Amino acid sequence: MRNYFDEPVAASYDQDESGRFASSTVGQTVGVLAELAGGGSALELGIGTGRVALPLAAAGVRVTGIDLSEAMVARLRAKPGGDRIPVTIGDFATTAVGTGFTLAYLVFNTIMNLTTQDQQVDCFRNAAAHLAPGGRFVVEVGLPTIRLLPHGEQRRLRLWAAGQTSWAYDEYDLATQAVTGHYIEVEDGRGSYRTTPFRYVWPAELDLMARLAGMRLEHRWGDWDKRPFTSDSEQHVSVWRKLSEQEAAADGVR
Ligand SMILES: C[S@@+](CC[C@H](N)C(=O)[O-])C[C@H]1O[C@@H](n2cnc3c(N)ncnc32)[C@H](O)[C@@H]1O
Repeated sequence: MRNYFDEPVAASYDQDESGRFASSTVGQTVGVLAELAGGGSALELGIGTGRVALPLAAAGVRVTGIDLSEAMVARLRAKPGGDRIPVTIGDFATTAVGTGFTLAYLVFNTIMNLTTQDQQVDCFRNAAAHLAPGGRFVVEVGLPTIRLLPHGEQRRLRLWAAGQTSWAYDEYDLATQAVTGHYIEVEDGRGSYRTTPFRYVWPAELDLMARLAGMRLEHRWGDWDKRPFTSDSEQHVSVWRKLSEQEAAADGVR
């Protein structure tokens, strides 16, 4: 598993200007996650620099993390309270760090960092294996913006950021659900380019992955403010509940 969140990406990660770091956004995210944790402990898949984990821990939830990137986790550990959050370096689709969590969560489109359907299915199975019966798995992910793609063009490109010194566009392969992110920046007169592979995934596909892992959809919101998910939603926050053994047996889940 290649790490795309290396030192240069980690160094500027917290300077993101997309609004993800706004206190209102983080506060709403933490409020929903704390409520879903219900007094138990939480596991963040792809914990990164602790954007969500640190305020969630400050709200009284015991948080554990998994992440592939030493560089991202070094930023988390350097922040106040960061040294009290246990983090294991590994792939969150397969790494095991315990059981009995009441909440596992995977936010900020990070499910798309798993670039095959098999890896995404494994991730759901891994999340479920960490949960106590009745525990919740939460995923926040954008919807593929394929309806905005220019019709009839051979290369399916979508420009989504065009600033004075940085540009970003996604390249879609509709046959494989692969999305390649292209990022161009100019700093001190020097240009740089990097690219990252993703796999976009549909809500209904995620529900099937949850089913394979013994979980069922409980909520699907259009955002952390719990607005309804509609055909105009640009992203969703979905919550699946892990079935108890009795529920699974009654449901015919193996
Ligand atoms: C978009 S960042 C999100 C970080 C944090 N959750 C947040 O909301 O700010 C994605 C994080 O997931 C990690 N990551 C991506 N793929 C991973 C994988 N397969 N296993 C573990 N961590 C992964 C990256 O290293 C990075 O820290």
